[in-house]
Amino acid sequence: MRLGGWVNRRRDLGGIVFLDLRDRDGIVQVAVGPGWASADTLALAQTAASEAVLTVEGEVVARPTAMRNAELATGDVEVHATSLKVVGPAETPAIPVARGKGEELPAEELRLKYRHLDLRRPELQANLILRHRLLQRARRALSELDFLEIETPILTKPTPEGARDYLVPSRVHAGECYALPQSPQIYKQLLMVSGFDRYFQIARCFRDEDLRFDRQPEFSQIDIEASFVTQEDVIGFVEHVLVALWDEAGHTIPRSFARLTWREALERYGTDKPDLRYDFPIVDWTTQVQPLAVPFFQNTTNGSRVRGIAVRGGGTLSRKDVDQLTATAKTHGAPGLAWVKRQGEQLSGSVGKHFTAEALGRLGVGDGDVALITVGPDRVTSPALDKVRQEVIRRLAPAPKLAHAFCWVVDFPLFEPDPETGKPVFAHHPFTAPHPEDVRKLDSEPFACRALHYDAVYNGHELGSGSIRITDPAVQRTVFRHLGLAPAEIEARFGFLLTALAAGAPPHGGFAVGFDRTAMLIAGAGSLRDVIAFPKTTAARALFEGAPAPARPEDLAALHIKVVP
Ligand code: AMO
Repeated sequence: MRLGGWVNRRRDLGGIVFLDLRDRDGIVQVAVGPGWASADTLALAQTAASEAVLTVEGEVVARPTAMRNAELATGDVEVHATSLKVVGPAETPAIPVARGKGEELPAEELRLKYRHLDLRRPELQANLILRHRLLQRARRALSELDFLEIETPILTKPTPEGARDYLVPSRVHAGECYALPQSPQIYKQLLMVSGFDRYFQIARCFRDEDLRFDRQPEFSQIDIEASFVTQEDVIGFVEHVLVALWDEAGHTIPRSFARLTWREALERYGTDKPDLRYDFPIVDWTTQVQPLAVPFFQNTTNGSRVRGIAVRGGGTLSRKDVDQLTATAKTHGAPGLAWVKRQGEQLSGSVGKHFTAEALGRLGVGDGDVALITVGPDRVTSPALDKVRQEVIRRLAPAPKLAHAFCWVVDFPLFEPDPETGKPVFAHHPFTAPHPEDVRKLDSEPFACRALHYDAVYNGHELGSGSIRITDPAVQRTVFRHLGLAPAEIEARFGFLLTALAAGAPPHGGFAVGFDRTAMLIAGAGSLRDVIAFPKTTAARALFEGAPAPARPEDLAALHIKVVP
């Protein structure tokens, strides 16, 4: 037989040399010994460098029982090499690829700089192979539902999705720029107007925004849009795709996901992406707790409420844990955390003396539990208690109720107040239709207007977002006006969409699944960088190829650009 691969490890036992040869399918042991290989072949094996590429000819033989390796898929056999060729010599690798058990990875910056080597690691190979399978499965699942895959432009006009645009200056039109799409949002709506009633695309999106472990400046979406549909229809399509993706990774998940309204999600979990694998909901204790003679709880003017979490089994949290949870609450704007721990009839904690075991029982705080309580307006207590809840879950590591907790969050608000100016900004994007029951409030009470906008959430992560779209050009203009756009700007930026909407637009809606994020979660990876072949750092740099890079003066001149230092 003939094999090709990379030298993962070499062991020289004097008379016989063992080479672990690696390729994307795994590792096989090649034995080069005097019984079957020539002296030249043996000499070559003795000098074979780590990470060099070899081709090997030889015979597959069973290993002696004592030499079998149960940890290797090919561990019962080895290849007795009769000839060996170094077809790709390798310099000493800048970072090791083969790792012993428990051996740490090199620093990520180094791994990104030598990405060609890091990508040889079996973990990253497995992630990219999984990613491939998930992409094929998504395409199949959508084709089964009669969706057409249609590509939309990369050099386009800006599509507002809440981030800055990457601009591409035009050489032939001085001073003009294309924008890279933040999403194919407007194009997919135009496709609906043109009659392609079910569209999808594995769409590359570009957003110049602050990056985190689950955000990259360029990323992929499974983007869908359909005509003559309701929110329920779109939810059904997306569930079909997500069930298929999880199935591809060997997980059977129930088809119908839990539902929460945006309001319920914020009330019970303090966030619009609740992790429903665990209990510990947030509760409003204002009426029970505020009358107690504790100054901390009296601070409830201007719509403030006393809210807290009854942490089952939280009695095991140490004083230091509670201090750190308090610091977390304060970092997110809360005045602090009051706490009371119940052990039998004995109560302790910062406000323990103000409670009785019976009163705590009425709050759902049982023996061995702790209550963590804060006060303030919801805009402060919700994010603070969300983070406290997440940290409690990390510290207590309770057994999850479910391994895969999906939910839909529906009825988002159409607008949010800008945190600095208080003016309306869109909560999803400006093409989202108002809830039919709230359309009449669009002018009078824009902030009270709900949207036909829905998010899919998995174990506390937003997988994707979608909405039913505005098809009435007049309503679309009203929304743009609320967002502070002057009529001339509306025409300049979105006139082409308004023209299309006036040309016979079917009711339509859609969704985009963040594909990299989904692959990361299915792979159990800690970062998007582990499921993207050539990702960027959090400073939006590509360390391997060195992008961005200074432009040559003649290129800038051709693009009519002068750099002002
Ligand atoms: P949205 O902006 O919510 O919706 O994006 C959909 C999903 O894309 C993923 N995502 C990202 N993934 C990696 N890096 C990023 N920087 C990044 N930004 C977003 C998230 C997110 O949930 N046009 C609408 C969809 C629609 O209405 O149909 C849109 O793009 O998982």
